[in-house]
Amino acid sequence: MTALAQTDATALDDADPLAGIRDLFVLRDGLIYLDGNSLGPAPKSAFAEIEQAMREEWGHDLITSWNKAGWFMLTDTLGDKVAGLIGAESGEVVVCDTTSINIYKALQAALSLRPGRKVIVAEGGSFPTDLYIAQGVQAFAPDTKLRLEGRDGGTLEELIGDDTAVVLVNQVDYRSGRLRDMAAVTARAHASGALVVWDLCHSAGIMPVALNASKADLAVGCTYKYLNGGPGAPAFIFCAKRHQGEIRQPLSGWWGHRVPFAFDPGFDADPGIRKFLCGTQPILSLRALKAGLELFETVDLDAVRAKSMQLTDLFIRLIVERCGGHGIELASPRDAAMRGSQVALAHPDGYAIMQALAARDVIGDFRAPDIMRFGFAPLYIRFLDVWNAVEILRDVLESGVWRDAQFAQRAATVT
Ligand SMILES: Cc1ncc(COP(=O)(O)O)c(C=O)c1O
Repeated sequence: MTALAQTDATALDDADPLAGIRDLFVLRDGLIYLDGNSLGPAPKSAFAEIEQAMREEWGHDLITSWNKAGWFMLTDTLGDKVAGLIGAESGEVVVCDTTSINIYKALQAALSLRPGRKVIVAEGGSFPTDLYIAQGVQAFAPDTKLRLEGRDGGTLEELIGDDTAVVLVNQVDYRSGRLRDMAAVTARAHASGALVVWDLCHSAGIMPVALNASKADLAVGCTYKYLNGGPGAPAFIFCAKRHQGEIRQPLSGWWGHRVPFAFDPGFDADPGIRKFLCGTQPILSLRALKAGLELFETVDLDAVRAKSMQLTDLFIRLIVERCGGHGIELASPRDAAMRGSQVALAHPDGYAIMQALAARDVIGDFRAPDIMRFGFAPLYIRFLDVWNAVEILRDVLESGVWRDAQFAQRAATVT
């Protein structure tokens, strides 16, 4: 195979059907932003959306905006938009709260449908909040058991048994980018009578997700990554229609009541997806998210997935061709069909290397102990960005600039 050249990257950009969408985002010149798997950039339309919500709706119309501007139903109208991206129907998704809170609701809801069963199965390498929430559920129901892949057994599938109430699993692993087979895992859980809660944080917006086609039960996900909803944007929760009548969730706030404005002292849950709501939602944040979701309305998710696979393939191939001999190892699946839209590279000095890259305006992130994560959001990353990022990485490695003491300094919070 002949080595790739920069012109190969520009040729891919020229043929890219999604190329025009990048202009709809605020991305400063020179920045190579490979961290959309953590926080997506601002859609330009979000500014007008917030301006209108503040000036006209809050500033002028005040309380009447709950109805007139559709504030009260934004959880559902935006939920329907998310539903279109994750293979769900209208009325199966609401946007609300945080992913962590929605995991709590979903786990308890699943347990409510399997009263005789006490086991939660999850991935030992899951994003920590998923595990912490499962531990929180367990702390208040001490007979509940948590079985973890990698700790209590080799694979998730092996751990699912007749006592399993619910499996909590990520479609795409936050560290390695490994993609799970949603239909297969769901079928395996159902064969044992268990339910599945899918965490879609790293898959929503980068590929067609097939919740209903996979017979999924519940799902959650955040909107500030690939859905570009903004920092701390509200999350979403999905519950399949077939479960909505019987299922219960513990945060029975007034927004989840069948008739919230009856102000009835007794809780009577909404019969549909709104039973997963709790209380008043952050309208301004929802409006920024509306702008992010509307960008997807013109986008074909099959084209997004195709470009995502090409971007990550190109990155891996260039790393192999141009960054050899520096101790970097691929920590993501080599086969594009087995991974999401990120590539993880392992290096013992990954932290310092990522800092040195950031100093050159190539932004990815680091996950301890040694993972350098690069996210390739197909709506705004160009193939030329991939080429340039690898060239800068090659320079950082060959010059050894990352050894400079300034790059070893650990930030106290977000890295
Ligand atoms: C897989 C996964 N689940 C959950 C979360 C975070 O949840 P929250 O938005 O509640 O902080 C993240 C954040 O990066 C994540 O990657």
